[in-house]
Amino acid sequence: MPFPATRLRRLRRTPALRDLVRETSLSPAQLVQPAFVVAGEGVRDEIDSMPGIERFSISELVAEATEIASLGVGAILLFGIPSAKDESATGAYDDEGVVQMAVRALKEAHPDLTVITDVCLCEYTSHGHCGFLRDGEVDNDITIELLAKTAVSHAEAGADVVAPSDMMDGRVGAIRHQLDEEGHSRVAILSYSSKYASAFYGPFREAADSTPESGDRRGYQMDPGNAAEAIREAELDLDEGADMLMVKPATPYLDVVRLVKDATGAPLAAYHVSGEYSMLKAAAANGWIDERAAVLETLTSIKRAGADAIVTYYAKEAAQWLR
Ligand code: PBG
Repeated sequence: MPFPATRLRRLRRTPALRDLVRETSLSPAQLVQPAFVVAGEGVRDEIDSMPGIERFSISELVAEATEIASLGVGAILLFGIPSAKDESATGAYDDEGVVQMAVRALKEAHPDLTVITDVCLCEYTSHGHCGFLRDGEVDNDITIELLAKTAVSHAEAGADVVAPSDMMDGRVGAIRHQLDEEGHSRVAILSYSSKYASAFYGPFREAADSTPESGDRRGYQMDPGNAAEAIREAELDLDEGADMLMVKPATPYLDVVRLVKDATGAPLAAYHVSGEYSMLKAAAANGWIDERAAVLETLTSIKRAGADAIVTYYAKEAAQWLR
């Protein structure tokens, strides 16, 4: 029955009616707050290009986690910034490394807060690439062994979930195998199954000091023109043992979020990355947008596209807004 009998505006008339029929809503429990952890004591070091985001030393991180947990944020995702870097990324799988120590401290203070660790070598290599370099190229098969070692050391420290972000082939299988071999069958893998070679990681690379010294990451991260390939990546990662998938970045790739969700039905996260955060912060600082409304609309769009969880530097603020 068309107009005038049918009027879609009827259910938009009051806030309560709109709440009643909303298809997508946000919950702090499905937001993940990324955090940068550095060596040292008493460090809270703000990142210029990411207003509101700081690098924390361990006791400051624990204090921050107390706030995050009390706001009901679902999980924290840790990135380590080591004091020294080398060719083999030894800081990544050092049992006394910055992430390993941070995980132990977090788990002791907040046993119920879900701790996810980024598993990648780029913050730990002197050249800034995500893997071991041989003849100027990232060697896939040596790299996945180092990644598996890194994941095991995070699991041993108490991580609930390990999240490989390197885009090597076969790394999920190598990590699953090694975790199981060493008694960590209950640790989950959140695979960055489609991570694009994106211009939106700029502020992160400043924060993590992980810009490649030469070349770029297009030899391993996905080409922005591809979408069908994201489904192949997702299926391979699931076959290798991934528990959850991730599309990254989020807003420029909402079509990919929808495709991967529909093709796999698997638990899915999307990463609202540093550049997406910085753009919103910059526009808000200039008074060009209403920050709260624009951020909540952005996060809603990511869920509407099919993501279950959202990794976002806005997790803590959004949780405050959603209270
Ligand atoms: C690599 C990694 C990157 C991000 C998360 N993990 C950067 C890269 O590939 O250069 C980017 C996250 C962001 O921009 O917020 N370990």
